[in-house]
Amino acid sequence: MLGAFGTAVAADEGSVSLRVLADQPGSKIDRNTFGQFVEHLGRGIYEGIWVGPDSSIPNTRGIRNDVVAALRELHVPNVRWPGGCFADEYHWRKGIGPRAQRPATLNPNWGGVIEPNTFGTHEFMDFIQQIGAEAYLSVNVGSGTPQESSEWLEYMTTSQPSALAEERVRNGRAEPYGVSFLGVGNESWGCGGSMTPDYYVNQLRIYARYTRNYNAEHPMRKIAVGPDGADTGYTEAVMKAWKDRNWSWDIDGLSLHSYTVGKWPPTYKATGFGEAEYAQLIQATLRMEDLVRTHGAIMDKYDPQKKVSLVVDEWGAWLAPTPGSKEGFLEQQNSQRDAIIAALNFNIFARHADRVRMANIAQMINVLQAMILTKDDKILLTPTYHVHRMYVAFQDATFLPVAFDAGSYVHEGITLPRVDAISARDKSGKVWLALTNLDPKRRVQVGIAADSAKRAVGQTLSAPAIDSVNTFEAPTTVAPKAIAAKFSAGKLLLDLAPESVTVVALER
Ligand code: AHR
Repeated sequence: MLGAFGTAVAADEGSVSLRVLADQPGSKIDRNTFGQFVEHLGRGIYEGIWVGPDSSIPNTRGIRNDVVAALRELHVPNVRWPGGCFADEYHWRKGIGPRAQRPATLNPNWGGVIEPNTFGTHEFMDFIQQIGAEAYLSVNVGSGTPQESSEWLEYMTTSQPSALAEERVRNGRAEPYGVSFLGVGNESWGCGGSMTPDYYVNQLRIYARYTRNYNAEHPMRKIAVGPDGADTGYTEAVMKAWKDRNWSWDIDGLSLHSYTVGKWPPTYKATGFGEAEYAQLIQATLRMEDLVRTHGAIMDKYDPQKKVSLVVDEWGAWLAPTPGSKEGFLEQQNSQRDAIIAALNFNIFARHADRVRMANIAQMINVLQAMILTKDDKILLTPTYHVHRMYVAFQDATFLPVAFDAGSYVHEGITLPRVDAISARDKSGKVWLALTNLDPKRRVQVGIAADSAKRAVGQTLSAPAIDSVNTFEAPTTVAPKAIAAKFSAGKLLLDLAPESVTVVALER
């Protein structure tokens, strides 16, 4: 079986045999699949990224140095900003110019707090430049106008001496910015205006026409709003319109949003949960596979050459908020279960790398399934952070199929694969293998066929308990450790802890 999920094929109680089919390369796993998302929501930006130049927390031009240093390790390819639902109420002009003169506005989506507009276009571009990422802007289709978004892009990207460009220069940026990705609205079927698919398509044509990139040296790709989970209405409408388009507009991507939530509103606890909740949320995570297949099949109908990417630009666990946190701030702890959720999503995206060429976990810091949590001048790296770091090797690597018996993990009527695996060859020729042991109780021994590798060395992320987390008092409870395979009876044997994620380099 080729890297299959959910099969009842029996593996031995303790072992799984695996072979990397290195002679059958697939698509490139686009590095943008490991993108991230920051929204003006709770403590995601203010406190999480922005502390201001006068803060006692070490910072560079107001952006905290500890967070930048940690994120640089992840090679974050792109960052989506300013939302989310926030984007459809964001007016970019309020976030430029001298900071002391920027107006205070409201953030009705997220806690009804004041938005100081201190972190605006220039601060965002400074932040992504500091972490080495590219910009993914979402323009306001819900409550803005085509003129507003058109002028934002002119302000940012033209090198001509237009009035907007001169304003940008006066605000401290002489060179035009490069904007790599542009989202035309956000969840226009929901918080972005509750638009019917046909209404949205008409808006899309207008915004895609007039929101121009003027920086010829830095191409920009446009991403349309797409499906809400399993609903195919937007997928059909946008892709049909794209197929029938004229010369005046185009898109490069279709967005899909799908969270691991279990049930709505989010009530699954982030810590202190049992095996039943573990199995239920892992099962919910694996539905991403069906979503990608379903929407991918519709896209294939209109776009058999796969020119338009499926962009999963909001994914991750959405759990009950941390007790005592502010309403609407979406703060949650991050456990070893989140590490498994992240790895399984990455594996699904990699298996569909021919269509899924971009994805953004929600969200980067202090919000939902975060990489980093902050408390005053302290930061901690979550299990999800560690998985991102371990998977850096897969960025822009070429997918290689893996043949293995997934086996099964069964709990209270839920049957899941026991093991998941993907492999890829990086640009230097090195072959990588990522393995997830989904079973929270049983270790598994993976036997890698000798023709696949003679040595396997890397890192593994496991935890003392099913709901282990890192805290400010104990920040390394869940941290990667070195792992190496042993050669025995003609096979390389890797011993995987229960509920663990492992990434190794294979040497032949
Ligand atoms: O990530 C939190 C919110 O979830 C986003 O603002 C919105 O797009 C989605 O519903």
